[in-house]
Amino acid sequence: MKEHLLFIVVTLFSSIGLIAQDYAKCRLIPLPQKIEEVNAVFKLADKTEIISESGLAEQAFYLQKELLRYTGISTVIGTNKDLKSYSTRIILKLTPQSKNKGVVNEESYFLKMNADECVVEAETHKGIFYGIVSLIQLVRLSEKTGNRVVEIDCLNIFDEPLYAWRGLMLDESRHFFGKEKVKQLLDWMAMYKLNRFHWHLTDTPGWRIEIKGYPKLGYIGGIGNHTCPYTKAEFYTQDEIKEIIRYAKERNIEVIPEIDMPGHAAAANRAYPEFSGGGSERYPDFTFNPGKDSVYTFLTRVLKEVDALFPSQIIHLGGDEVHFGNKNWKSDRSIQALMKKENMTDLKEVENYFLKRMADSVIVMNNKIAAWDEVAESDLPTDKTLVFFWRHDKPSQLQKAVDKGFPVVLCPRIPLYFDFIQDASHKQGRTWSGDYSSLDKVYAFNHKSVPVSYPANANILGIQANVWAETIVTPQRLDFMLFPRIAALAEAGWTEEGNKNFDGFNKRLSKHLKLYEEDNIYYYDPFSPQNTCEPVK
Ligand code: ACM
Repeated sequence: MKEHLLFIVVTLFSSIGLIAQDYAKCRLIPLPQKIEEVNAVFKLADKTEIISESGLAEQAFYLQKELLRYTGISTVIGTNKDLKSYSTRIILKLTPQSKNKGVVNEESYFLKMNADECVVEAETHKGIFYGIVSLIQLVRLSEKTGNRVVEIDCLNIFDEPLYAWRGLMLDESRHFFGKEKVKQLLDWMAMYKLNRFHWHLTDTPGWRIEIKGYPKLGYIGGIGNHTCPYTKAEFYTQDEIKEIIRYAKERNIEVIPEIDMPGHAAAANRAYPEFSGGGSERYPDFTFNPGKDSVYTFLTRVLKEVDALFPSQIIHLGGDEVHFGNKNWKSDRSIQALMKKENMTDLKEVENYFLKRMADSVIVMNNKIAAWDEVAESDLPTDKTLVFFWRHDKPSQLQKAVDKGFPVVLCPRIPLYFDFIQDASHKQGRTWSGDYSSLDKVYAFNHKSVPVSYPANANILGIQANVWAETIVTPQRLDFMLFPRIAALAEAGWTEEGNKNFDGFNKRLSKHLKLYEEDNIYYYDPFSPQNTCEPVK
């Protein structure tokens, strides 16, 4: 959960005056924690100067690049010495760390504006980034007056996130969307201050990441998708993965890879059948074989390459739904021998044994393990394991996880699975006994929405939406399932409960639809549902 930043709010905000509750001029999503409207207009124009302290050159460059991209305006990166040469200035300023040591929320920032100056101030680079993002949003949502001039109503803002983990998961195994779509998604995650991209890269329909030691994973495991098992191999090369990680990093987004095991492994088993633990009639070759040492060697080598690619130092091992396809474990010779040797009596113990061994490999790589809420039952180390609560119909899994002391990310199917439909009239996506993930439910979600009693030391990292792709084949449908729910997710993850208001959110959201149009996004229009056709799967 968040750390509070009481200190500067009091000192700095009292110096700029009262905190207005009338957000008429603020169109930002997610809504900042404190806003003051200032009676002045800041003109952004060609030659507006961006002045940054040393150490913030990358952030200044990002701002310059994005302003040009969205407005055509060419700002100038300058230095304090040139102060007088230009009409308006944007100043990026790091406040000294020492001043408030220990209590800082590392993503907090101030944005202070008047007619001449727009100052972004923070204690960290992450804070500076989010101040810049707020400024970019204000620019995009303000009037263009004249040729390459944007007039922005001035605001003073103090802001910090509610949750540290504000995530989005994309399943590219079921259907592969590709590099450019992922980059667009990362752009919008950044725009909405989401900071964790969980990338579901392996599953039964296709393996989507190049592993140099096992090239058939890509060339054979990458063949097919959920719609057709024969489509040409599609996967990310390691160079492409690096490119996407760089792109994400520039936007303060950490990329967490998921290599699902021991279930959801059929694509890998098509490439290397010697590692298959079999499956069931409905899910053939669904698992890796926990009874073979060679499987642990193989998967550890795979994870070593994954570790070397992803700087997040977290590897998601999946661990979900193993019971779908572990029937064969009851008759497999090597698994039976393992059970005998380890005195195991049921298949859940085998599953935990497998995860424990793979977790050991991950820990040796100095990574943390992430896994779905099935592992709430395991004895994986709580200081090195993150649990993702997904089964909304089983709050007991979350209760177990927090009672044991696991840090948790909340992503319950309802309302945070975005492959579920968002309106009762929609026909193509999932539902759960008639229930679905509507915009208002996404908006209202927080950790108190789940009926559990949190121990005082519960470690709720944050929230995340998951986009599974069985029913999402085209980029157009991906847009439709994400937009505008991604905006509601952003505000649920960032904005303090007391500042949230669904009507106010909708007013701001109505202004964001034009930004979706500018980016060619096929969004669902909750204000005129009849104007958007639901794309077929
Ligand atoms: C999941 O939805 N199988 C985590």
